[in-house]
Amino acid sequence: MPGYEGRLELTWTNKAKRLLAAEDGAYEWVDPSDYRVAEVRLLEDLGTVGDVGQERAADNLLIRGDALNALRSLARLPEFAKHYLGKVRLAYLDPPFNTQQSFLHYDDNLEHSVWLTMMRDRLVQIRELLAPDGSVWVHCDDAEQHRLRMVLDEVFGPAQFVATVIWEKADSPRNSARQLSTDHDYLVVYSREPEWAPQRLSRTSAANAIYSNPDNDPRGSWLPGDPYANKPYSRGLYEVRGPTGRIFRPPPGRFWRVSEEKLRELDSDGRIWWGPTGAARPSIKRYLSEVADLVPRTLWTKEAVGSNRTSKNEMRALFPKAPSFATPKPEALMHRVLSIASRPGDIVLDPFLGSGTTAAVAQKMGRRWVGIERQAATLETYAIPRLTKVLQSTDRGGVTEVTGWNGGGGFRVLGVTPSMFETDGGIVFLADAMTNGRLAEATGAQLGFAFEPSPPFAGRKGRTRLAVIDGVVNEDVVRILVSALGAGERVVICGTGIDPDARSVLRELRPGSSLRKIPAALLAEYRTGQQLQLELAGTVAGPVDGESPTTNEPAGAVEVGAANG
Ligand SMILES: C[S@@+](CC[C@H](N)C(=O)[O-])C[C@H]1O[C@@H](n2cnc3c(N)ncnc32)[C@H](O)[C@@H]1O
Repeated sequence: MPGYEGRLELTWTNKAKRLLAAEDGAYEWVDPSDYRVAEVRLLEDLGTVGDVGQERAADNLLIRGDALNALRSLARLPEFAKHYLGKVRLAYLDPPFNTQQSFLHYDDNLEHSVWLTMMRDRLVQIRELLAPDGSVWVHCDDAEQHRLRMVLDEVFGPAQFVATVIWEKADSPRNSARQLSTDHDYLVVYSREPEWAPQRLSRTSAANAIYSNPDNDPRGSWLPGDPYANKPYSRGLYEVRGPTGRIFRPPPGRFWRVSEEKLRELDSDGRIWWGPTGAARPSIKRYLSEVADLVPRTLWTKEAVGSNRTSKNEMRALFPKAPSFATPKPEALMHRVLSIASRPGDIVLDPFLGSGTTAAVAQKMGRRWVGIERQAATLETYAIPRLTKVLQSTDRGGVTEVTGWNGGGGFRVLGVTPSMFETDGGIVFLADAMTNGRLAEATGAQLGFAFEPSPPFAGRKGRTRLAVIDGVVNEDVVRILVSALGAGERVVICGTGIDPDARSVLRELRPGSSLRKIPAALLAEYRTGQQLQLELAGTVAGPVDGESPTTNEPAGAVEVGAANG
């Protein structure tokens, strides 16, 4: 419309910045191009529990580390990306709600802008991981719910909003409440695509209990259905005589739902109910065997999915000696989320795993799962022992009985590795641990190469090979590498030093190949790549802090001489 510009959005302090997560849970504002937030971290093996397969990325995964690092690794490391990028069916997030409290196992008192940025950055990454039929469920309370909705609108688009579920978490009022005692939390649901369809819920015994069979109908239990139509129906105005001779006609302004012939046909088939004495107005029977499963609704009561007290009791049964984890969720609550938003075999992701409820329920329901948790102590005290009990079938609580779970399966514990860089006096260096194989693997990860050591190469991306040299790349090195290439292959050579003549030799010997000095070339890529990611998600309007505008060049595609330092 002429005269209008801009878009509706929530703004906040430092919205265009990113957050660096420290080990202790503190966050620090940094520029999006800062390597500490742009780097793709490797995932290292820390152990396995139960039966695992050959391919580690295809197993259930418990990842220790900051959620953003871990999510980026799942999306960017080729080994994991092939299993997770665009493949996650359900992401459930139960982050610290920003309630300004300190819990025993973690603090929950971030400034609003910090909380919003923390969530935005993880949601942007999760959106990439979601399958086209995927959905994201974010658990929160009144502290941030209204702002979170706007962030979700920005990241997923308003058309992808599905519903806000209200979960009755409290069993009794809190008489110490200063004003009103809050009974509920929210689960805000967005889908990846607007056509998302929930799974229907199996009918509960309570829902079935209203059906009965007073006339011993061989088709089973039924409910007397309304015989009247709400809208005008040309064949719906007639008189009908019941078994006792009583005459019935629709009330003024209403119509029979079926024609006279159809009503007679249903009656002769025993599908019309005239009341216990045959003197009531006709009802059309609705059989239990013919009704569909239940459409999910938005009000979830404690009777249906448990309350905070339920989850505390579940914790106590699992860990009689340890103090309860501060904010566990009931297994029945997660059972309902997983029933609506996933099927057996689907991948379920929880980047704020805590005591491991989502993973435990996913395991019991036959889903594949990935859980991420920053606190090593929480993993060691709660999530790992809990999931071990689930595998061994020594956890008989929660939804074990409902799911018929009998144990089995396994998972891997992975850790987000430390950064490949270090800073000294404002200058970025390769970290000391970055030698040989580790340097090659970490460098390949930044450039999107699968790590496939096959000397002299370290990785491959289609017909391009990767070589990483911990030293100076000169003309001789280039000649040796090019001679090892197959016909039609190119090479990306990364070296900690580059001899100026090497470039022209490479250009001549194998056009389309490139030469990069590390770490400078990687740092230069972060300046373009991360900015692009934010813009794609529609969360940053333009260049930040005087950075040069983003190019559409994919990371790893810079030609010789373009991105070296
Ligand atoms: C509300 S609790 C999750 C509880 C969980 N749903 C359960 O049933 O046990 C939030 C968890 O997220 C973890 N966390 C907070 N910030 C994180 C981050 N940036 N990356 C990974 N985990 C984080 C906390 O350590 C805490 O264990």
